[in-house]
Amino acid sequence: MLERTPAVGRILIDKTRIADRVRNLGGEISRDYEGKQPLVVGVLRGAVVFHADLIRHLELNLKIDFMSVASYGSATDSSGEVRLVKDLESSILGLDVILVEDIVDTGLTLDYLLRNLKNRRPASLRVCSLLSKPDRRRVEVSVDYQGFEVPDQFVVGYGLDFNQQFRNLPHVALLNRDF
Ligand code: IMP
Repeated sequence: MLERTPAVGRILIDKTRIADRVRNLGGEISRDYEGKQPLVVGVLRGAVVFHADLIRHLELNLKIDFMSVASYGSATDSSGEVRLVKDLESSILGLDVILVEDIVDTGLTLDYLLRNLKNRRPASLRVCSLLSKPDRRRVEVSVDYQGFEVPDQFVVGYGLDFNQQFRNLPHVALLNRDF
């Protein structure tokens, strides 16, 4: 079992807590966007699981799209240099955009994405991130909807990876670096 590989450590957020929080976030966003038709943009690949669960709790006439970015650096540390790998399929001019992220760590990726998307003049732009590591922040970014704060440790599961592994874990667990 994936959970039992020595690389995966203690469960930080179990699947019941994730499901409850995603449902609550969905309710909050549905109320805030009542009568609107937002475009819910998932950032590949880490946010796919969260994005897929979240949109099913949004009682809105929404559309979805995806972007993908790459940041240079090691497997657990980003260098701050961000590059767009896959762009949105269509224009966001005049749209209410909700950007869905897996985790805000240093904030550099989100800062890049927000600058990039704001240039395209959407009607509004808000961020929903499952996780945030506030102790690691290097640039100030505002997260409008946040699932959980996590400590300054590398986490995997529920979309988040280490070397592309462990995205399919149903919970968020600590990565055990001493295996
Ligand atoms: P930032 O640019 O430093 O905020 O990093 C953002 C990206 O780094 C996230 O979207 C993740 O893909 C990745 N990342 C940051 N911390 C973690 C972690 O603890 N586990 C898995 N991926 C992470």
